[in-house]
Amino acid sequence: MQIYKVGGAVRDRLLGKPVTDIDWVVVGATTEEMLAQGFRPVGADFPVFLHPKTGEEYALARTERKSGRGYGGFTFHASPEVTLEEDLIRRDLTINAMAEDDGQNLTDPYNGQRDLEGRILRHVSPAFAEDPLRVLRVARFAARYAALGFTVAPETLELMRTLSESGELEALTAERSWKEISRALMEEQPQVFIQVLRDCGALKVLMPEVDALFGVPQPEAHHPEIDSGIHTLSVLEQSALHRQPLTVRWACLLHDLGKGLTPQEEWPRHIAHEHTGLKLIKAVNERFKAPKECQELALLVGQYHTHGHRALELKATTLLELLQSFDVYRRPQRFEEFIAACEMDARGRKGLEQRSYPQADYLRGAATVARSVAVQPLLEKGFKGPELGEALKRERLKALKAYKEAAAS
Ligand code: CTP
Repeated sequence: MQIYKVGGAVRDRLLGKPVTDIDWVVVGATTEEMLAQGFRPVGADFPVFLHPKTGEEYALARTERKSGRGYGGFTFHASPEVTLEEDLIRRDLTINAMAEDDGQNLTDPYNGQRDLEGRILRHVSPAFAEDPLRVLRVARFAARYAALGFTVAPETLELMRTLSESGELEALTAERSWKEISRALMEEQPQVFIQVLRDCGALKVLMPEVDALFGVPQPEAHHPEIDSGIHTLSVLEQSALHRQPLTVRWACLLHDLGKGLTPQEEWPRHIAHEHTGLKLIKAVNERFKAPKECQELALLVGQYHTHGHRALELKATTLLELLQSFDVYRRPQRFEEFIAACEMDARGRKGLEQRSYPQADYLRGAATVARSVAVQPLLEKGFKGPELGEALKRERLKALKAYKEAAAS
C-alpha cells in the first residue's frame, strides 16, 4: 500500500501556513489489511480509519457517485484498484486536491499548485456538484484566504450559482451548514463569506433575511454607506478586526434584519426595526440550530442595540430595565458581548471605523453600579420574596440616578 498526505495539510504547507490536522489517503489497500495493521474503523460503512497511535484519519482511496438528494445520497467505491488521481478528482477545489508522499513529492494532476500561486479557488471537476455543502466551503475558504488575494474562479462561481438555484442547498442539514457558517464567521474576513454566498445566489436560499438587506437605504447622516447590506458586512468586518467571539459575530450579522421588512415608503427610516427583526432573527437562529448562547445574544442585540447607542441619554429607569433584561447580575459576560456588538455596529459605517464609543464604558460602569447594590442590608431590614426584589430595584435605581448625574457633571 502507498500512503499520501492529502487535502488541507498539503495546501497549507505550500502556503506556508501552520498545519493543524493531517488527512491521509491509502492507495492499494483493503479494509482487512488496515484492520490487521491496528487501524480503528471510524464508521460502520465508510472506508475511513484512525491511526492506532496518532489518531489521524486514513481513508482508503475511493470514488464517489451521488445517488440522491442531500448528503445521505452517496454511493462510494473503495478498492485497492482505485488510483490516487481517481480519489483526487472527486474533491472540491484544485488547491485541496494535491497529495504528497513521505518524501514531499507532490502529486498534482489538477494543477492545484498553479491555482495556489494564481490565488484562485477553482473546482476540480463537475463532481464538485455532488456535495452542495461545497458552496459554503468555497465561501469559507474565500473568507480565510482573502487577505492573500484569493478569489473564486468565474466558472466555479457559475457552478455554485447553478447548485444554489437547483434547490440542493435546502437538502443540507442544519448541523452541517452551521459547522461551515460558524467556522466561516471565525475566519479573518467573515464578510467575504457572506459576499461570496450572495454573489452566487446562495445567500438568498440560506439566509433570505440577510440577503434582503441589500438595496435597502438608511439615513446618510448616521450611515454614510447608506446600504443596509453593506453596513452589515462592515459590522461583521469590524467584529473580526476586533477579534470578537462567535456569539458577537453572529449577533453582528443578524442585528439589523428588521430593516429588510421596512415598507419602501418609510425608507430611509426604519422605525422599530429592532422589534420587527426579532421574528426573523429567531427564524435564522432556528434554521441553523445555532448554539443557545449565539441565539440569545443575537436576539438581545437585535432588540437593544439602539439602546446601546443611546446609552448616555437613557433615563435611569430605562437603563435599569436594560440591565435587568440582560440579567447582568448573573450573566456579566453576556452584557460585555452586547456592548461589543453595539460598538461593532457603531464602527461598521463608512468613514466611522475609528470613532470612539464612550457608550461602552458608560454601560460597563452602569452594570458595575447596579451589581454593587448589596442585598444584605435589605435582608437585615426584613425584606423577603417579591418585596425584596422591589427594594433591590429601588436601590439600584437610586444608584443609577446618582451615576447618571455624576457622569453628566
Ligand atoms: N473535501 C471535499 N469536499 C468536502 C469536504 C472535504 O472535497 N465537502 C476534501 C478536500 O480535498 C479537503 C479534504 O477533503 O481538503 C479534507 O477536508 P476537511 O478536513 O474538511 O478540510 P481541509 O481542506 O483540511 O480544510 P480545513 O483547513 O478547513 O480543515
